[in-house]
Formats: sequence, C-alpha cells, structure tokens
Amino acid sequence: MDGNGRWAQRRWLPRAAGHRAGVSVLTPLLETAGRAGVKTLTLYAFSTENWARPESEVKTLMKLFLETARQKVPELDERGARLRFLGRREHLPASVREAMQEAEQMTAANESLDVYIALNYGGRAEIVDATRRIVADGLSPDEVDERTFASYLYAPDVPEVDLVIRTSGELRVSNFLLWQIAYAEFYVTETLWPDFSPQEFLQAIESFASRSRRRGGV
Ligand code: FPP
Repeated sequence: MDGNGRWAQRRWLPRAAGHRAGVSVLTPLLETAGRAGVKTLTLYAFSTENWARPESEVKTLMKLFLETARQKVPELDERGARLRFLGRREHLPASVREAMQEAEQMTAANESLDVYIALNYGGRAEIVDATRRIVADGLSPDEVDERTFASYLYAPDVPEVDLVIRTSGELRVSNFLLWQIAYAEFYVTETLWPDFSPQEFLQAIESFASRSRRRGGV
C-alpha cells in the first residue's frame, strides 16, 4: 500500500492523513476483488523495516490498525471474507495481537475471499523463521524439499502469488513474500495507494490475464 506519505505531502497534510486515506481504499477494493473472482489477496500493511520510522508514525499506524480492525472486521465477516495475518506477532503491541486473534477467530469459517494482512512482516524473516522451525523439528536434510519448506511458512496454505501490484511507481520487491512470488507477475503503477481505484485494480487483473506465463518453460 505504497505512496500514502507522498499522497499526504502533496496536499500539505500530515503523513497520518495519507494512511487514513489509504484505509478508505480497502472496502471498495475488497468488494471488487470478491466480485472479480479473486480468491486470495494479501495486503502489505507494516514491514519488519517499518519500525525504523519515527516512533510517532509507528504509533499512528498501530492505532489506525486497531481502529480499522474494529470498524472493518465485522463488515468483512458479513461479506464472507476470512482474515489472517502474516508476520512476527511477538513484537507487536498486545492490543494489536488481540485484535488480530479476534479477527481470525471471527472470520475463520468464511470462504468467499481469503484476505491476508502482512503486519510486522518480512520475507527474509519468514524464511529464517521457517528454517528455525525445521531445525527445531529435527528434520534431516533429505526430508527438506520445496514442498516441506513451504509447509513451514507463516501461512502454508497461501497459494503461490499470481500477481503483485506495486503502487507509487517503486521498482522494488521490498522483502514482500520472497518465497511465494518466485513466478509472480508484476503490475507497477505510478498511482499512489490512496488513489488506487477498483477500476485500476481490474485493469491490473486484465493485464495479468493477457500475459503468457512460461515459468521457465517455452
Ligand atoms: C506505505 O506508504 C504504507 C504503509 C507503511 C502503511 C500502510 C498501512 C495502513 C494503510 C494502515 C492500516 C492497515 C490495515 C490493513 C488495517 P508510505 O508511508 O511508505 O508512503 P510513501 O512511500 O509515499 O512515504
């Protein structure tokens, strides 16, 4: 959800206003995703690197997350979305961890759309955490193949990513789902996240649908 800060700066607003505007994009987008037949959608909300931001911005983001969870989780539940979180939970404030657990429990039986929120998430951290758990489980080298490794990731049932949408024109992966994006297609747009519309989301899907995916073959 990149570009919230720049969106705010261009309007002489505090960065927090950009993050708020970024949240307001979520409902229409998730509705559109559901209608378009998307089965899984992951939002990158807070990376392991985002702790390096000023303390006040980190606090604002955590507060905004709590507020958004309170407001939107019942709404998402009604629409049949199942919410789950990716990332290192232990470093997050207790209130945030509780809200995450509540959201997961409330929506656990839903089946229309899987929404993953990457919160305190880093792709490298995920790979390290998976490796630690493999070692702790005492697996022998022969037992570790790609399938076994993937089963140790934060959410083993996240399917391989088809499409990564990167807003605000950044041409980087930024530690996002490193394992899962091995064969993902990219859609990069200059649009800042708060301006990212359902129309452009559909455009991204159309662009994806028109590509031929060779996955290393011919
Ligand atoms: C990136 O824009 C955005 C973030 C680091 C935060 C995104 C988080 C939310 C919208 C809050 C709540 C989320 C959920 C899912 C409830 P940036 O600040 O890096 O923008 P810039 O690159 O323009 O500075």
